[in-house]
Amino acid sequence: MKTIIVKNYDEMSKVGADIFAQIILDKPNGVIGLATGSTPIGLYKKLIEKCTNGEISFKGIHTVNLDEYMGLPSSHEQSYAFFMRDNLFNHIDIDINNTNIENGVAPDAQAECERYNKVLDELRPDIQLLGIGSNGHIAFNEPGTPFDSVTHVVELTESTIKDNSRLFDSIDEVPTHAFTMGIKNIMNAKKILILASGANKAKAVYRLLKEKITEDLPASILNTHADCTLICDEAAASLINNI
Ligand code: GLP
Repeated sequence: MKTIIVKNYDEMSKVGADIFAQIILDKPNGVIGLATGSTPIGLYKKLIEKCTNGEISFKGIHTVNLDEYMGLPSSHEQSYAFFMRDNLFNHIDIDINNTNIENGVAPDAQAECERYNKVLDELRPDIQLLGIGSNGHIAFNEPGTPFDSVTHVVELTESTIKDNSRLFDSIDEVPTHAFTMGIKNIMNAKKILILASGANKAKAVYRLLKEKITEDLPASILNTHADCTLICDEAAASLINNI
């Protein structure tokens, strides 16, 4: 894994957006894999700026998203579908029909997982963006998820529900289950970019770079990917000074 340590959140977002922009320029009809959470918002802002300036265009781009809360319709403010429209899609020249995410209110969860796996088979990302959960989860693949997993429904751990509750009015409103791309789907991307910012990610970053590869630390599998880059700011890198 290539590791880039930058000063702060803004630098991380800038360096990450430049990597994304280059891929979009090289392949204007390519596929980009996107993520939600607080971490990628700055990168999305920079991509919006680049699109507004005319530096890049999303007209031919297809997107796939990692995950979605189960039980939230795309109109719900806390759904990841809403997040993507609000933080990126509504501000760029993408065709919304070319954006893909699991349907949180699909009546048949198993059929929805199968549908999404087919989408992912057809749309292999040229680059996949990832954040990291404080317990080392990627997308919603919680510790213990098999490395060969594909899209599935997960029961969220207490720590993830607690971490994500900051965005809801109360912890009771956080869904207990979610759809997520599996780890095998994520590893299928041609390139992976993982971002980490802030002291609350320092332990996860340390574990990612220093611990052995194990299903108890889902992000650890990224060490085996042929083209994975980690960009973290100084606060997130604070425990790995000697690398
Ligand atoms: C959620 C998402 C993950 C994300 C993680 C970290 O659980 N499913 O994809 O990486 O949160 O979020 P944040 O960037 O807000 O710290």
